[in-house]
Amino acid sequence: MRQSSLVVVANRLPLDDNAAPDGACEWRRSPGGLASALHAILQKTPATWVGWAGGVGPAPQLPDIGTLRLRPVALSEPELRGYYEGFANSTLWPLYHDAVEPPVFDRGWWETYRAVNRKFAEAAAEVAEPGAAIWVQDYHLQLVPQLLRELRPDLLIGFFMHVPFPPPELFMQLPRRVELMRGMLGADLVGFQRPQAAHNVAQLAAKLLGSEGADDAIPVDGRVVRTGAFPVSIDVAEMRTMSARPYVINQARQLRHDLGLHKRVLLSVDRLDYTKGIEHRLTAYSELLRDGRIKVRDTVMVQVAVPSRERVESYWGLRDRIEGEVGRINGEYGRVGEPAIHYLNQPFDRADLAALYQTADVMVVTPLRDGMNLVAKEYVAARPEDTGALVLSEFAGAADELDDAFQVNPHDVDGLKDTLLHAMNADPADLARRMAAMRKYITRHDILAWARDYLRALDHTGRLAAQVPKQRRRATLSTQQLGARR
Ligand code: ADP
Ligand code: G6P
Repeated sequence: MRQSSLVVVANRLPLDDNAAPDGACEWRRSPGGLASALHAILQKTPATWVGWAGGVGPAPQLPDIGTLRLRPVALSEPELRGYYEGFANSTLWPLYHDAVEPPVFDRGWWETYRAVNRKFAEAAAEVAEPGAAIWVQDYHLQLVPQLLRELRPDLLIGFFMHVPFPPPELFMQLPRRVELMRGMLGADLVGFQRPQAAHNVAQLAAKLLGSEGADDAIPVDGRVVRTGAFPVSIDVAEMRTMSARPYVINQARQLRHDLGLHKRVLLSVDRLDYTKGIEHRLTAYSELLRDGRIKVRDTVMVQVAVPSRERVESYWGLRDRIEGEVGRINGEYGRVGEPAIHYLNQPFDRADLAALYQTADVMVVTPLRDGMNLVAKEYVAARPEDTGALVLSEFAGAADELDDAFQVNPHDVDGLKDTLLHAMNADPADLARRMAAMRKYITRHDILAWARDYLRALDHTGRLAAQVPKQRRRATLSTQQLGARR
């Protein structure tokens, strides 16, 4: 396989499992923030993406997508169970999200997690040019930076954590906490969504590794690992263009008509995940109906909940609970031809999502903990006329940036109910001011700005290293390419 000067390593390749018979393949835009974010920047950047193509068994042959090469990593059934469903999504995911579901500590999963991380590291080492920049993504691959450094000391290694990095009290529960810290700190630059995460890591490095550093620099094995916050974003221009397409405008008009022209439309769009606070918002909505503060004849809710991680045990009960609650609410408050909630457990393409965003008077985003939450930013980008209200959990990373949203603590159901009503009844001038401010912010801080800032910082980190091998300068190429697209 040809080699690249920029290699992205992420658990998933962002493409459809079902490549067309002629071998043509399309970006899948799988539901999930990581694929959404990186999709925007990598289509036109010469790079290789190392990742899992979904399914088990031998890796498929995959064609390039534009200038992006794909290097699939095959997973066997036991690897999928121990690494993806087990350690990544039953131990790390819940623990990193404030343990809102109890993390499962199964001793059998660790070896598989380590072995699969090695597989990804080897694949990345194989496709990386001398001195290339490697950008490792997320909690699935937390050991890859260190493994890669052992295999290829010439590389410039970045790591970005899309999910929250927990406070020491929680991280300390992990039986393999030292290995996980060392693995991640094998990178030259470790990026997080929020500054608090970098602070947590600095505290943990001191505690677990005896590495006394600062929130932006941690000494490890004679190197200095840089850390910092780089809040991820969306392709604002793409969403704006999409929103202006006649199909989207017509679709939005049709949806409005179908939902009721005179009604206030509340919308939520999530992966069906227990971190998203779906049950909390259903409780709030149902109580508003019960208390008579809203009526089905003037309000309707649309809940899109795309299926996710359906083989992971903690997700099984969730779907049943949500569907039971939606059924109960519709049974109690709906009328013939007029449900209180429309529940859609299916994936949507981007245009249909944009139409939904345009239809919604109030976007309700209530995660109990979320690295960023791109849905909140997508809604803002899809509202060029500065109408609509965003209700946003203060536990989403996006809350740091979108301070003109109606912010809520989703655990406080009474507060959530009041905030929903406040957002529904807000003065249009107030809504316009808030939306314009948020739109201005995300337009400046879009996905290209995120990638450029991160890769520049990585490049800078490489230059700061005591002896910069000449080859490393090649890594700057990718930064310049991204910069040139703006
Ligand atoms: P997470 O990364 O936890 O899934 P985010 O809100 O950051 O949460 O990202 C979710 C991404 O998945 C967004 O880009 C959103 O548009 C997309 N998405 C969510 N629901 C659907 C759906 N039903 N169909 C297609 N894409 C979806
Ligand atoms: C979050 C994670 C991503 C993940 C996505 C979808 O955004 O940070 O790494 O890809 O959820 O989850 P899945 O398990 O389907 O890849």
